[in-house]
Amino acid sequence: MDLQEKSVLNKVTVSDRDLFLMGEKNYLLVHESPPISGEMSLFGSKNASLPIMASLILTSGVSRLHNIPGSADVINMCQLLKELGAGVDYNSITNVLVVDSSSINSFLVSPEIMQKMRASVLVMGPLLARFGRAEIALPGGCAIGARPIDYHIKAFKKMGVECVIDGEILTAKASGLKAEILGQDYPSVGATENILMAAVLTQGETTLINVSLEPEVLDVISVLKKMGAKIEILAPATIRVTGVTSLNAIDHEVIPDRLEAGALLLAAAISGGEIYLPGAREEHLSLFLLKLREMGHTVVCGSEGKGIRLIATDQPQAISLITGPFPAFPTDLQSPMMAALCIAQGESVVRETVFENRLIHVPQLRKLGADITVSGDTARINGVRNLYGATVEATDIRASCSLVLAGLVAKGSTCVMGAYHWKRGYQLLDKKLAALGAIIKLEAR
Ligand code: UD1
Repeated sequence: MDLQEKSVLNKVTVSDRDLFLMGEKNYLLVHESPPISGEMSLFGSKNASLPIMASLILTSGVSRLHNIPGSADVINMCQLLKELGAGVDYNSITNVLVVDSSSINSFLVSPEIMQKMRASVLVMGPLLARFGRAEIALPGGCAIGARPIDYHIKAFKKMGVECVIDGEILTAKASGLKAEILGQDYPSVGATENILMAAVLTQGETTLINVSLEPEVLDVISVLKKMGAKIEILAPATIRVTGVTSLNAIDHEVIPDRLEAGALLLAAAISGGEIYLPGAREEHLSLFLLKLREMGHTVVCGSEGKGIRLIATDQPQAISLITGPFPAFPTDLQSPMMAALCIAQGESVVRETVFENRLIHVPQLRKLGADITVSGDTARINGVRNLYGATVEATDIRASCSLVLAGLVAKGSTCVMGAYHWKRGYQLLDKKLAALGAIIKLEAR
């Protein structure tokens, strides 16, 4: 399908056919492509949009969110809010989402929605704050790991919530949430957001120790503060919340998607191109940018860290990296980065510490000719001169990105099955890449 709009920033728009192409049986066909080059705008962050949409349950009124990406997960969250009774109007051309939360009258999340999107668990905190009740289906594990929600449940229990699990259904009830001192063994993104959203309407002072302070969490905090919440961040990783009695509807522009930015920068890097992303922010990607520079790429950031330009080297070098909570290297850019390391000179070492099964893309990259060995949580990648097209299977959102990136430089054509993962995570990234020179098409079987 042709691009419907092509402005200076190469904005692209979504159509009904794009939404149709979110189906499970779709695949991406990627051909060896010329260098990915040009300028591209970014959509808002999916991982910030989802909790921010959930946070609207805390309010009663009409909120307007700007820069909301039309990825499948966001469309599912719209559906979830509608099921709870909210009025929802999402325009995937302007990326504006209007939600009237005054009509929310249910605390039940259907298992169908929960199965489509683990992030549905993020409505638990806001529902408990609003109704003192929440009923959700338990999110299962997924390809990248078991992904339990024990930190969420432990904190809610300490806040006075009775949690009963019956088969797949988790019922949570409280007669008034209690302010407490809470801590988690690991700075979980989702647990930090969920507990925070429950705490903002809890009378008294709630302290959360060892929280995640990823840029997306900070965006959620700025939204909650706009609503009227009282939240303080204490160095190095504690949040203190003083409960208020009600929160206002808001108008907010979501931060740019650093993971989309990372994917586009890597597309240029792997293919020997030059790209400029005026919307990208240096402070969201600092360690990732440092690693791109270590590989030999030229990375230039604009004044005050706004706007990132990458000029690819034609002799990329091997590097080492370890994933971890922000500001460490983001786990969500590990598999995309590994695609670029497959053709870097020398041996790269990648250690994944966030999710136990997040080297699952390695056998797929091997099918394309990559030389990678895995031992425990560590992958050693010996750069090869060429990758070769094959049929591969995407197992999660970021693995789909990794395989598409590899496909851009693999000889011949690469068929990436499981493209619904791609649609879950990115809005129109295939079209953006095509506008920058990639030979790529999303097809329905
Ligand atoms: C979010 C992001 C995801 C990203 C991840 C880590 C969204 C919608 N998704 O996922 O893209 O890869 O952060 O940056 O924002 N854990 C527990 N118990 C819990 C919660 C988490 O053991 O109750 C573990 C997980 O299994 C994992 C680690 O903590 O090993 C990090 O998970 P977490 O930060 O919670 O990730 P998500 O919020 O699910």
